[in-house]
Amino acid sequence: MVYPIVMYGDAVLRKKAKDIEKGKDILALVNDMFETMNAAHGIGLAAPQIGKGIRLFVVDGTTVEDEPTLKDFKKVFINPILLKEEGDPWLFEEGCLSIPSIREEVERPEKIRIRYFDENWNEHEEEFDDMKARIIQHEYDHIEGKLFIDYLTPLKKRMLKGKLNDISKGEVDTEYRILAPKR
Ligand code: NI
Repeated sequence: MVYPIVMYGDAVLRKKAKDIEKGKDILALVNDMFETMNAAHGIGLAAPQIGKGIRLFVVDGTTVEDEPTLKDFKKVFINPILLKEEGDPWLFEEGCLSIPSIREEVERPEKIRIRYFDENWNEHEEEFDDMKARIIQHEYDHIEGKLFIDYLTPLKKRMLKGKLNDISKGEVDTEYRILAPKR
């Protein structure tokens, strides 16, 4: 099932998401998350973006042609804990399915260490760097109620205000189904 993607301005994107009860069968939901992400041509999707305030996100970089390092990067992160971020901060232009038509450079540390469960409730502790870390950092922010635009300068934010306002009213062109915030 493909969910509509929740747009910027919805309160669910600003809440710290809750842990999922350990052992709960979430395979169907995980499947729907991948389906929804692929339909929107995203490389990451967090549960709040389909209106669910739970600590779950999926990533899939396997279709990104110019990033060979991502060719096996398809994963599910459940109840993740970001243990460490380190290394030289680097700039990269990010976008977000919940903030269509806006792309901005964001600075993040290059390396992370994260503990999480996969969809079968096996626990993992792993390190990621470069683009993999970047994607995880962006998605992890989502379950903390944070968005990439939060990192922008006040001037940049002011410049984007009109566009963000339109997005929050659902006035934006996308090739995927969206859900604008209820007011
Ligand atoms: Ni995003």
